[in-house]
Amino acid sequence: MKKLSAPFVFVALLGAAGFAHANGCSVSLKSNDAMNFDRTEATVSASCATITLELVHTGKMPAAAMGHNVLITAAGDREAVARDAIKAGAANHYAPKNDPRVIAATTVIGGGGRTSVAFPGAKLTPGADYTFFCSFPGHAMLMKGKLLVTR
Ligand code: CO
Repeated sequence: MKKLSAPFVFVALLGAAGFAHANGCSVSLKSNDAMNFDRTEATVSASCATITLELVHTGKMPAAAMGHNVLITAAGDREAVARDAIKAGAANHYAPKNDPRVIAATTVIGGGGRTSVAFPGAKLTPGADYTFFCSFPGHAMLMKGKLLVTR
């Protein structure tokens, strides 16, 4: 029995990981000390039970000077949420609390850091206009991109 169960678990895990990547259930973004993301577009699927959004900061500067996070909102909400994010402050990782406009928000990280957040694909409507951006003060105009949502 033990000889059979280990390979079964391995194959099951492998299958789950493959499914996640093949179906747009995860997005990984890189950021740096030059205040940008490594991409301006990403695609996810609304049919994913869980979408994982990961952010890596490949720079060296501390979070207080060159902090980055990622927020997902409807494209039309970005500017207003970015303003409210500054009011929310560093203690809230520059994310307005309990705000329905914020679909997902990571913590703020500094150089060498890594963070991620998971949210249900059901929060997104296929074909609608979404954006991902960094809400650290002064970054939202440069650090932003389109989030395309498929079924
Ligand atoms: Co930033």
